[in-house]
Amino acid sequence: MPISRSDALVFFGATGDLAYKKIFPALQAMILRDGLDLPIIGVAHSGWTVEQLRQRAHDSLAQAAKEHGADVDEAAFAQLSARLQYVDGDYNDPTTFQKLKQALGKAARPLHYLAIPPNLFGVVATGLKQAGCAADARIVVEKPFGRDLASAQQLNHTLHQVFPESAIFRIDHYLGKEPVQNLLYFRFANTVLEPVWNNRYVDSVQITMAEAFGVEGRGSFYEGVGAIRDVLQNHLLQVTSLLAMDAPIGNDPQALRAEKLRLFRAMRPLDPAEVVRGQFKGYRDVKGVAADSNVETFVALRLHIDTWRWAGVPFYIRAGKNLPITTTQVMVDMKTPPLSIFDEITPSRSNYFRFRLSPEVVIAEGARVKKPGEAMHGEPVELVARHASEPEKSPYERLLGDAIQGDNALFTSDECVEAAWAVVDRVLTHEHAVSIYEPGSWGPAAAADVVRSAEGWHDPKAEASTPC
Ligand code: BG6
Repeated sequence: MPISRSDALVFFGATGDLAYKKIFPALQAMILRDGLDLPIIGVAHSGWTVEQLRQRAHDSLAQAAKEHGADVDEAAFAQLSARLQYVDGDYNDPTTFQKLKQALGKAARPLHYLAIPPNLFGVVATGLKQAGCAADARIVVEKPFGRDLASAQQLNHTLHQVFPESAIFRIDHYLGKEPVQNLLYFRFANTVLEPVWNNRYVDSVQITMAEAFGVEGRGSFYEGVGAIRDVLQNHLLQVTSLLAMDAPIGNDPQALRAEKLRLFRAMRPLDPAEVVRGQFKGYRDVKGVAADSNVETFVALRLHIDTWRWAGVPFYIRAGKNLPITTTQVMVDMKTPPLSIFDEITPSRSNYFRFRLSPEVVIAEGARVKKPGEAMHGEPVELVARHASEPEKSPYERLLGDAIQGDNALFTSDECVEAAWAVVDRVLTHEHAVSIYEPGSWGPAAAADVVRSAEGWHDPKAEASTPC
């Protein structure tokens, strides 16, 4: 059956932070790129008028433009503004959904984007159903999807009461990032990696997601989440699955999802003894944060994947706020050559693959080459396969566009999201105190013990600019 395009876009939480930071810029970019021609309806309970929402959209675009040293494209904004409608109302009140039904007019296949807290998903889904806005509709929900395995299962159950799984699009914006796409492409569009992409040749894998800023006015949100729920259960396990999965049998979304699911299910549930939780000094002074908060702003861990391909290869993963640099980087360290032939000790970690996932796109291979001269001595070099500083589309533009088209390849399925929660679930309930670290450091000292090699963590550095 051909997949039909959505014919209206509704976003709940229209006056909120996510709409301001991500959704308006993405809608504007879609108008500029493809002339997005749908009615766009914002819904919120703020007592606003449509004029106020238009002003908010303009402010959001002005902010986004300023970051690139530009001004708002007023002609494109006029198009967005003309398509924008606003419905104000309480999500518990059926009349809100009746007003929405009216605003939808002839639209028969709306896409509903829920940029609202997960505890409201059920209420909104039911409201949509009762007002006749759910049939043939799609629903997009933000992460984190639940708080743990049990709540994610409950949430899936709630949504399935109203929407079939094929109509549910769970966002993980990391999957919409150009470099994350490139990781998948690079692995499976080349044969060179496959023979060595296993425990015979790979020594260990490291993934670091570092952010050089704190929780930025999101204290009360972060208090309910912490680094494990905020970025590990979703972004970082998703990246791990793309790095470690087997080749899908084709390019269709179901094939990709099937391989990812197999991989998620092979991840061994985290052992609390292999997890270090940290909190940056000063976090407890942030507005909305408890004075005795034990929420982690840093996590470092050792993950094991129980497959023939990966048995015995540790995956070291860490993420943190207020670290020295903002970047996400993957290092795949290869084993040292089995025999040292030349008259020098070959350092370990001479051979590696490096994937920079943010903010630049870099794919590089580390190798040793001979230094000129009589002696067979070498030096490390890095071969850069791809380097670019500006991704073409923002993740939200890509993901919203895909959801409108009904393409769910870059969204997370019910089974995958539950399998990912199963990996972290035990750590969530394990009571252990966070270790305090200095802002601008690489986290608490204990994080070093997670890596079982003398060289420890690869601390990502600012990227030297290299031509594409
Ligand atoms: C979000 C987290 O999902 O991802 C934030 O809630 C984090 O805490 C952000 O800062 C990082 O995403 P990006 O695209 O800015 O690297």
